[in-house]
Amino acid sequence: MRRLAHAEAGPSLALIKYWGKASAENNTPATGSLAVTLSGLTSSTRASFADADRITVNGQIQNLERFAPFLDSLRAELGLAGARFAVDSTNNFPTAAGLASSSSGFAALAGALTLLAGREPEPRLVSRLARLGSGSATRPVYGGFTVFEAGQEEAVAEHDENFWPEFRVVLAVVREGAKAVSSRVGMERSRLTSPYYDQWVSTSPSVLTGARKALAERDWNALGPLIRQSYLRMFSTMFSSNPPLIYWQPESMALIQALESLRAEGYQAWETMDAGPQVKVFCPADQAEALVKELDQRVSGLRFLTAAPGPGLRTWWDQN
Ligand code: DP6
Repeated sequence: MRRLAHAEAGPSLALIKYWGKASAENNTPATGSLAVTLSGLTSSTRASFADADRITVNGQIQNLERFAPFLDSLRAELGLAGARFAVDSTNNFPTAAGLASSSSGFAALAGALTLLAGREPEPRLVSRLARLGSGSATRPVYGGFTVFEAGQEEAVAEHDENFWPEFRVVLAVVREGAKAVSSRVGMERSRLTSPYYDQWVSTSPSVLTGARKALAERDWNALGPLIRQSYLRMFSTMFSSNPPLIYWQPESMALIQALESLRAEGYQAWETMDAGPQVKVFCPADQAEALVKELDQRVSGLRFLTAAPGPGLRTWWDQN
């Protein structure tokens, strides 16, 4: 009987953004991020030993180029120099479309391979290993709210998934399908070419500190404007990169403007965006349903998903 190491993780959506690296080689962030691990959306990954590395995502064989450095570092870190892996991963939400599938995907992959290596998949180890795949993958090893500080090699738990039961995220899916420029390539382009990049990095710590305090106090009025400031400053470095990075679609802008009006009508609904056209809105649970109705009326043709703070990484053995 073949034993399969199985791991599941949810995507990590940043309230305060990581964009740019302190070290590209070590994949450490130039800006600290504060994120929430989402419930309901999962990357589910099974790994076993094999004769050659082979990875599928949603049944599709992957080009190993993106994964080879990660697998090699993991082999070195886990003392498995000669080992090769067969990995099958499934996302129950759109892959590589700016719904943070690389965060859940690499967290689940690091967790499954740690278990397969016979090591205890304790969160600090898995977070550090997941970083070698994707910086944002350090975070969803923990449930609830997490922080990945600038220059660090692992994320830390900030508040667990029960800390703020009234906290929701409405995801407005503007376009499905993979994005044109990956976060990795985009953030390096911003670092090298945006005249605003240094200011983005130097002004980030105070935004993060303010947001951590506002979150600890569950204070929408203080947290919301900092969430907005973080993604708009990040996008300023994207728009001013050369060539520019324009991830927005007309519907993204329409949603941003609709939310501006809805806030004026009394909603506590604060959007963020990542390296893609989707708009993600943080709001209180008792406003989520009405908010989706309002947004659906104002911007037609979108798919909406709602998530709450979810659990961290789970790992176990499957018998096959
Ligand atoms: C915009 O973690 O995907 O989603 O470390 O190069 O793999 P790499 O980048 P990645 O970048 C995430 C960027 C972001 C903001 C965030 O999640 O903090």
